[in-house]
Amino acid sequence: MSGIERVGVVGGGLMGSGIAEVASRAGLSVMLIEVGDVAVERALDRVEESLHRAEIRGKIDSAEAVAVLDRIDFSTDLESLADRDLVVEAASEDEVTKLGLFRKLGRVLTKDDAILASNTSSIPIVKLGAVSGRAGQVVGVHFFNPAPVMQLVELIPSLTTSPETLARMRSFVESDLEKHAIDATDRAGFVVNSLLVPYLLSAIRMYEAGYASADDIDRGMVLGCGHPMGPLALADLIGLDTVRAIGISMYNEFKEPLYSQPPVLDRMVEAGLLGKKSQQGFYSYG
Ligand code: 3HC
Repeated sequence: MSGIERVGVVGGGLMGSGIAEVASRAGLSVMLIEVGDVAVERALDRVEESLHRAEIRGKIDSAEAVAVLDRIDFSTDLESLADRDLVVEAASEDEVTKLGLFRKLGRVLTKDDAILASNTSSIPIVKLGAVSGRAGQVVGVHFFNPAPVMQLVELIPSLTTSPETLARMRSFVESDLEKHAIDATDRAGFVVNSLLVPYLLSAIRMYEAGYASADDIDRGMVLGCGHPMGPLALADLIGLDTVRAIGISMYNEFKEPLYSQPPVLDRMVEAGLLGKKSQQGFYSYG
């Protein structure tokens, strides 16, 4: 076991609320930070909804669902994270926001060996470490959506992450959370998004060109390749703003045209059509 008992999560969006749920389901105390009361309510709704789904599908019983919720506290004050053994930052995929948070979090944590992790999928971990003032204890820990269902976590040490921090995070992921870890290098996209994002962007380009309908593109990959969902439905699930942001970071790093965002993706994000979370993306969600 990693010795991590008190976990903090910054950001209660799709990923942050899922990570908080996963940590609480492992029996750990969780403090989830959001920017205001409305965002706290939304994060709580997300966790409740997910637990309800897990209950309906027989993964947990109602007593366990209540206990999981009880172990999660919500706050709008970063200082509430002072006593945490581990804080996972899961704010929006924006470098300026994340750098600002790591600058503050590096000062807030009081335990010498406390770990600061980021769920970023594309922002360099080494930069987050540098501004935190505790670079040895900063590491990337990339969960997949929906976090309570997906078994994989990518571990991303930077050039300055200490071997002890990496070993402790591996133990946290594998022993405490009972998920599977793979190691990735600190390059935008890591392993999974380096393969997944160009595929999603190619599907969006195909849709934009009128090559096939959204439904046929998705059915092609579900029925033809056995994927659990098609690329456009998956882009909607991840969030079109997030897909776009990851593509931009990967393009900036590698200048690979396949990572550049198709114009229709820009327009949809500008219009607030963000996928499932805004109830409209390539598909409508009631
Ligand atoms: N807690 C625990 N288990 C849950 C759950 C919850 N809240 N909700 C669902 N489950 C379980 C179900 O019990 C079921 O388990 P079983 O196979 O043992 O019966 C399984 O999850 C599937 O659930 P459902 O039958 O309810 O739902 P679907 O069959 O419609 O599957 C899905 C939904 C899991 C989202 C599936 O479509 C899927 O796997 N899609 C692909 C998702 C994916 O690729 N995610 C990665 C995105 S990339 C990413 O996140 C990285 C980022 O940086 C972009």
